[in-house]
Amino acid sequence: ISLKPYNSFGIEAEARHFVQTTSVAELKEALEWAQKQTLPTLVIGGGSNILLTENYNGLVIKNELLGYEVLSRDDDFIFVKVCAGEVWHQFVMHCLEHQYAGVENLALIPGCVGASPMQNIGAYGVELRDVFEELTAVHRYEGYTRTFTNAECAFGYRESVFKNVYRDQFVITDVTYRLRTKPVFHIEYGAIRQELERLHVSELSIQSIAQAVINIRSSKLPDPAVIGNAGSFFKNPSVSREQYEALKAVYPEMVAYENEDGTMKLAAGWLIEQAGWKGYRKGDAGVHEKQALVLVNYGKATGHEILEVCNQVIDTVIKKYGVELHPEVNII
Ligand code: EPU
Repeated sequence: ISLKPYNSFGIEAEARHFVQTTSVAELKEALEWAQKQTLPTLVIGGGSNILLTENYNGLVIKNELLGYEVLSRDDDFIFVKVCAGEVWHQFVMHCLEHQYAGVENLALIPGCVGASPMQNIGAYGVELRDVFEELTAVHRYEGYTRTFTNAECAFGYRESVFKNVYRDQFVITDVTYRLRTKPVFHIEYGAIRQELERLHVSELSIQSIAQAVINIRSSKLPDPAVIGNAGSFFKNPSVSREQYEALKAVYPEMVAYENEDGTMKLAAGWLIEQAGWKGYRKGDAGVHEKQALVLVNYGKATGHEILEVCNQVIDTVIKKYGVELHPEVNII
């Protein structure tokens, strides 16, 4: 079966076996079956954070667990449990409708609820960990179910235990979010403030913030339905204060933010653009013309062709600045 409809990069690749699972029982059955056949498994939700570089010689499981449940609510918080296969942005819209605050800055992030904790999705000053209560996951090989609290997920910048110590060990089946009944607005991000001004918003609301985020994202980020992509392809790299000062002396315009530990996070989009890659295109593989952090497939690019652009970008950025970029997207 072709995986083209199941990855936002729109890469043509075949899966040897493919199944859609709509219950935890079906999911466990699929995992057991693959184990018996000694086949590897690849679980996908929205397929919006993967780059397929070859056919998948195993079982691809498309997680389609659906449903919402309000677990409890008090004066300040509401706890909502959401099944992993729900589309993230639909969940954000659901929260806006019901006046649940906390995820409005994360509007329009592609992908599913189950993927949101994997890499602690974040945008415009808010990260998933700020609203995350706990999740349920099934062990891929032993079949048991366990919960992970916020602390147990060890969230970091685009990081969690599911990307390192427990990589490929668990399948997330639901996520519980701790949302606010009284909103706390996050508008410290300059682009948001500018957009709110442009929209003449006088009284802040979760709806107006979501609208600002939607406008900014749609103006800079390519729509995967039109141009294949997986959002930011690279993480913003962190460097020591000394390395930052040295670079800043040569490149006074360089964009950077301070991390909590005093190191500096550089805007990879700026580094890549200044290295001349923005708008680059070879065949159907390229670097987005409005946001250099996003690699794109204009139609028929292969995973290898995208990977080649990725490696060339990494090479030139190291040579020019001595800074190593790391992909944020999972390369398969
Ligand atoms: N910049 C450039 N050239 C570019 C792109 C960016 O000079 O081609 C500069 C911008 O002018 C700005 C700075 O870099 O001064 C930061 O750019 P932007 O606000 O677009 O954010 P980003 O650091 O490029 C990160 C996330 C995005 C998230 C935005 C907003 C990562 C890897 N990416 O991008 O997340 O939406 O901040 O919070 O951290 C994603 O992960 O898929 C994603 C889109």
